[in-house]
Amino acid sequence: MKHVLIDTDPGVDDALALLLAFGSPELKIEGVTTVVGNVSLELASLNALKLLEFLGAVDVPVASGAAEPLVREAVDGVGIHGETGLGEAVLPEPTLKLNGRSAVQLIVEKAEELGDRLTIIPLGPLTNIASAIQAKPGIVEEVEGLVIMGGAFNLTPYGHGNMNAVAEYNIWHDPEAAKIVFDSGIPVKAVGLDVTTNPLNRLTPELFAEFESLDVARARLAADLCRSLIRRMNGLSLHDPLAVAVAVDPSLVETKRFKVEVETVGALTRGMTIVDRRRYHKASETEMNVDVCVSVDAERFLRLFMDRVVHDKGG
Ligand code: RIB
Ligand code: CA
Repeated sequence: MKHVLIDTDPGVDDALALLLAFGSPELKIEGVTTVVGNVSLELASLNALKLLEFLGAVDVPVASGAAEPLVREAVDGVGIHGETGLGEAVLPEPTLKLNGRSAVQLIVEKAEELGDRLTIIPLGPLTNIASAIQAKPGIVEEVEGLVIMGGAFNLTPYGHGNMNAVAEYNIWHDPEAAKIVFDSGIPVKAVGLDVTTNPLNRLTPELFAEFESLDVARARLAADLCRSLIRRMNGLSLHDPLAVAVAVDPSLVETKRFKVEVETVGALTRGMTIVDRRRYHKASETEMNVDVCVSVDAERFLRLFMDRVVHDKGG
């Protein structure tokens, strides 16, 4: 059993990732924290409560976090995720309430309680994680580490940016936070665009058709979440679900360890995750701070996704 805390900005793919996480018996979800990103903090928190209520996860604390990035202005993804942040999905107003603690308080408390039994899975900008590290620097040695959805490492043909030529949205949205996290020494496994946008790894219209017509609440919700993007983009990159899947089964990906720095100044390169691949002046072992996913077993991942998100066959 892996104890995890999920930090999220739901968001269509975040919602699918939560379905996958709660459909995976290997994970015990200790808490969900929300962050501004795809949608406002208020909407991210409302969506998290709606989703956990749908999942019956009534005992999992949901704590809201940052309403703005550390320094920059928030830039939402409503154009992608829709006005509600959940595509075409309509869920009832939740009876669940936000936990009295802030996201930083919940992250720090769970880190103190569980130590290296806790893995944190950030699926949005790293604002809450950076703030938790600033609040209690010791957590970088306490927790098992982070499995983040974030970064574009230029290590595969798909490792270019989605917010500019070189930066991935979660890092781009709050590069100062990402720099704090990457430079902190906390163990980071990065599930970046290099693997999440691999065409073999995307949800295709054909796979979507397999579950769109299923008359099962879970499949209907997944279909309502995905439909608009499947039609507009002729498929859907399962960014956040892959990060959760990697926490469930690390053997789904191959990783390579690099020294990675985050660009916070560049006009053209804001949010770039810069991999130091110099063969001379090679980065030292201690400087290498990120295990970057460089390949994925797409077939096994998509099977896990369909079994656990759509069919709830997690067991
Ligand atoms: O770049 C992809 C990431 O940005 C995903 O986490 C998606 O939810 C958006 O937040
Ligand atoms: Ca996200």
